[in-house]
Amino acid sequence: MADLDGAKEAKSFYTDIPQKTEGFFLKGSDSLDWGMKNRLSRIFNPESGRTVMLAVDHGYFQGPTTGLERIDINILPLVKYADTLMLTRGILRSIVPASTTKSIVLRVTGGTSILKELSNEEIAVDIEDSIRLNVCAMAVQVFIGGEYEKQSITNMTRMIDIGTRYGIPTLAVTAVGKDMARDARYFRLATRICAELGAHYIKSYYIEDGFDTVTACCPVPIVIAGGKKISESDALKMAYNAIQQGAGGVDMGRNIFQSECPAAMIQAVRAVVHHNEKPEKAFDLYKTLKNQQ
Ligand code: 5RP
Repeated sequence: MADLDGAKEAKSFYTDIPQKTEGFFLKGSDSLDWGMKNRLSRIFNPESGRTVMLAVDHGYFQGPTTGLERIDINILPLVKYADTLMLTRGILRSIVPASTTKSIVLRVTGGTSILKELSNEEIAVDIEDSIRLNVCAMAVQVFIGGEYEKQSITNMTRMIDIGTRYGIPTLAVTAVGKDMARDARYFRLATRICAELGAHYIKSYYIEDGFDTVTACCPVPIVIAGGKKISESDALKMAYNAIQQGAGGVDMGRNIFQSECPAAMIQAVRAVVHHNEKPEKAFDLYKTLKNQQ
C-alpha cells in the first residue's frame, strides 16, 4: 500500500528536485534522436568526447592491403584497444566474433577497384543488413571534386535518409583524388558540404596549415584518417596536432596496422586522443610497450 502512504510519497517523488535535462556531449548532435545519440556514444567515448576508430576496410577497393592479409591474426588482437572497428560486412561476418561488444562502423559503399575510377561508387549494403549487423554507423565515401562527385554525394544523402529512419548515423568519408590539392580550402569545402547535407560525422585528413579552420567551420565532429604510413613519432604528432586543433578523434588504419608494433601504436594513439598525451610522451609509451612485446 506504499502509494497510499502520504509521508513516503513526497520523498519518493522528489518534488523539490527538477528533473535534469542533459545536453548531448557531441558537437552539433544534440537534436538527434535517442537511438542515434546512443549509437554515437558507443563510437565516441562520452568521457573524453573522442574516438579511436581502427580502420581496416581498405580491402573493399584494394584487396589484401599490407598488414591486412590476415585480419584474424593481425587485427583481432588490436580490437580491444579501439573504441570502434571500421570494416566491411564480409570481414565482419567471416572473421570478427559476434561476441564482440565493440561498436562497428560499416563500410556501405563500394563497387570500384584500384584498377578503375574510384569515385564511381554505389551504395553496396542494404540498410536491412546494417540493422541485422547491429552497426553503430554507416560509412560512405564522398568524392568532392571527383569525376562522380554527384553520384557519391547522392549515395551519402540516400544513406542519411534511410539511416535516419532507423536511428543509424552516417559517417561521410572524404576521399581526395590524386590530382587534387590537399589543403585547408579543399577540406573546408568537402567537410562542410557533407555536414550541410546531413552527415553525422565526417572523416577528413590532417593538414599542417589551417586544419583548425576546417574543424571550426564544420558543425559536426571530424575524425582524421592516418593516410600513408609515416614514422610512428610523426603519426603521433599528427594525431596530437589534429586533436588539439579540434578533431574528435582518429579513424586510423595503416599507421596502426603497418606499424612495427601495432599493439603498442594503437595504445600510444589512445593516449594522445583520450588523454591529450604530448606526442613525445606518447612515443615513449610506444617504445616501452614495443619492448614489452
Ligand atoms: C579507405 C578508408 C580508410 O578507412 C581510411 O583511409 C583510413 O585509413 P588510413 O588511416 O590507412 O588512411 O576509408 O577508403
